[in-house]
This record gives sequence, C-alpha cells and structure tokens, in this order.
Amino acid sequence: MTALIRPGDHATVRVDLAGRSYDIVIGRGSLAELGTRIAALRPGASAAIVTDEQVAQHHLAATISALESAGLRSGRVLVPPGEGSKSYAVFERVCDQLLEARLERNDLVVALGGGVVGDLAGFAAAVVRRGLDYVQVPTTLLAQVDSSVGGKTGVNSRHGKNLVGAFHQPILVIADTSLLDTLPPRIFRAGYAEVAKYGLINDASFFNWLEANWPEIFSGGRAREHAIATSCQAKAAIVARDERETGERALLNLGHTFGHALEAAAGFSDRLLHGEAIAIGMTLAFGFSVRLGLAPAPEADRVRRHLGAAGLPTQISQVPGALPGVDRLLDLMAQDKKVKRGRLTLILARGIGASFIAPDIDPNEVRAFLVEKLAER
Ligand SMILES: NC(=O)c1ccc[n+]([C@@H]2O[C@H](COP(=O)([O-])OP(=O)(O)OC[C@H]3O[C@@H](n4cnc5c(N)ncnc54)[C@H](O)[C@@H]3O)[C@@H](O)[C@H]2O)c1
Repeated sequence: MTALIRPGDHATVRVDLAGRSYDIVIGRGSLAELGTRIAALRPGASAAIVTDEQVAQHHLAATISALESAGLRSGRVLVPPGEGSKSYAVFERVCDQLLEARLERNDLVVALGGGVVGDLAGFAAAVVRRGLDYVQVPTTLLAQVDSSVGGKTGVNSRHGKNLVGAFHQPILVIADTSLLDTLPPRIFRAGYAEVAKYGLINDASFFNWLEANWPEIFSGGRAREHAIATSCQAKAAIVARDERETGERALLNLGHTFGHALEAAAGFSDRLLHGEAIAIGMTLAFGFSVRLGLAPAPEADRVRRHLGAAGLPTQISQVPGALPGVDRLLDLMAQDKKVKRGRLTLILARGIGASFIAPDIDPNEVRAFLVEKLAER
C-alpha cells in the first residue's frame, strides 16, 4: 500500500511501459495542472475534449480553463451519457468531429468522463489519423481506479461488450478526486467494487484497511486519495508486467465473467450498473471457489459482508426484474472473451488477496453452482 497522502498533496503513480510510460496524478484539485502538464509533454499541441453531456454540466468549464490558462486551444465533442454511447454510431460521430476539429498528428484528445467516455474517446484517438495521443481525465471512481489506466479502449458490438477496440495507452492521467463529489451515490458505490477488487486479487492488507476505512472513501476524506492511489499502483504494476493480457493481467477480470453475463442479462441498463455486476460477480467467484474446495467459506463470507456493508448487491436475487435461466446465463458467460474450446477460464481465489487464473473449468460445475444461486431468488 502507498503511504497516506497529506491534504493538498498530489500523489503520482508511474505506469512503466518503456517509451510509452506515463503518470497518473491523483489528488483534490489536480485538474488545475492539466494544461501545464500537457504543454510540458506536447509543446504547441491543441486539444479536443470528448465528454458526455452530464459530465460537461459539472466539469467542462473547469477543464477548458485549465487548458486555456496554459495557453492551449481546445475544441469539444459531446456525446450522450451512458453505455449506449459505446456504439459504432457514436464512435463514427466522434471520429468525424475530431477530423472536423482539424486535429493534427501533434494534437491530442482529452477524455473527460467515466469509463464510457474514456473507452470511446481512447479508441477514437487510437484510430483517427492512425493514432493521436490522448489524456484521460476520469470523473467516476471506477474510471479513476480502473478504466483510465492500462490502455484498453473500445466500443460494444451486438455480439458483446468491448469486443471492438485497441490497446492505446494515454500519455497522462489526471485523477482529480474532487470531481467525484458530484457523482450520484449509486454510481460512486458501483465504482467501489473495483477498489475492493484490488484487495481481493493480491493485497489482503489493503482489503483489511478497506474494511475499516471505506466510509471515509465515500465521504471524501484522505482515505479516498489513498484508496485511489493504492488501486492505481496495483493496476499499474500488473499492466507494466503484462500490457497485452497474455497472462497475469487477466486477474483484473476477477468477477467479470459472472458479472458480464448478469450485465448482459439485465440488458446493460440501469437495472444493474457495471460495478454492481462486478460486486455480485466477485461474490460468486469466491462462492464458487469455496464450492470447489479451493477457499475457506469464512473468506467468501467476509467478501459478501464487506461489499454488502458498502451498499453493493452481492446476490443474483438483488438484480431487479426477471432474469433468464441458467442455460442463457451460461451461454452469456461463454460469449465472454475468457473461453477456450468450451472450457471456461475463471478468476478464482484461495482466499482474500490470493486470486489466480483457473483456465480449465468445467461448465457443468458452473451450471450446478448457478442453479443453486438462482434458487436463492
Ligand atoms: N478500459 C478499461 O480497462 C475498463 C475497465 C473497467 C470498466 N470499463 C468500462 O467502463 C464503463 C463504465 O464506466 P463508468 O462506471 O465510469 O460509467 P459512465 O462513464 O457511464 O459514467 C456513469 C454516469 O455517471 C455520469 N458521470 C460521470 N462522472 C460524473 C461526475 N463527476 N459527476 C456527475 N456525473 C458523472 C456519466 O454522465 C454517466 O451518466 C463500462 O463501459 C466498462 O466496460 C473499462
């Protein structure tokens, strides 16, 4: 874990990728540094800010003024809020508007928003003029601890989530933790699932600390910066070792195969936010690990209790409305990218902080487990 950051200080986490390394600057008020940092990295560049209409209402003016105060010219591209913007249609519009803004090869894109804007704008930056630089300014907790770091960009296809995209690393991430003050509580909470994920993957002491300090992360005290910096450090370390997910990076998918299936079953709608699906998915991954005799039951109980205490759903029965049966859920799990020759690759755990990649899981075992979980409804 990182040391606690003093009030007013900004923490910097370096993502170490040789010639494509970059800083994540974390702290209250760090947005004010956006222009000067870009000017230092790319002297003379212009910027196009891609954001969604809701984020724009709260944070576009401050972003423009942070750029202008360093003498940077900027244009803007607005998209509707929500997962629906990770579509071919919106992607096409963003690319065209970046071209209309006459961005040249030395210019850059600023992705101001949550994971949706980050994935969409990052993918547009990856392909417009065969690749523009971009800067992530994440505005949700999920985006500050996860999606803005690591260079995965993309949009959804009718065949599934995130299936069309590119690896394209940003040149800078500015995680201003005060931007989270305007987040609706439910969206903040959903992002917390990804914070807890880092403890569950490989840092039991971080998970212990979260159990004691999570209320202060929500209320905006120093624990918030500490949790975000620790999460970014964990992600940066994994990405530096395995940028293209040929191995260890898959650990970051803890809870995601179960979670994506539930998200798809709920129609990628407000019924179940991504982070909520991951909270249920992680609880299921621990429950399944217990069922296979890999993890002790009290560890899975602790996961469920902590996520539940933070107000996250932990059971399939908490998804409002009707869900499909076990066959369809298994089908959706199989459509996830983590399937090889009919066998599922899941991230399972021997305990808190002891997750591992389990590459050869029999779908029938998963079916029996899901039948039990669906009966809990
Ligand atoms: N690239 C990656 O590595 C990665 C990792 C995890 C998740 N993701 C993707 O991230 C997406 C989910 O991201 P998200 O949860 O940030 O959702 P989001 O981007 O849709 O944001 C959620 C909502 O919050 C609003 N919002 C954002 N910031 C705000 C603020 N500061 N104040 C008020 N409102 C604000 C947005 O307008 C939106 O309505 C999914 O598409 C998921 O696939 C990507």
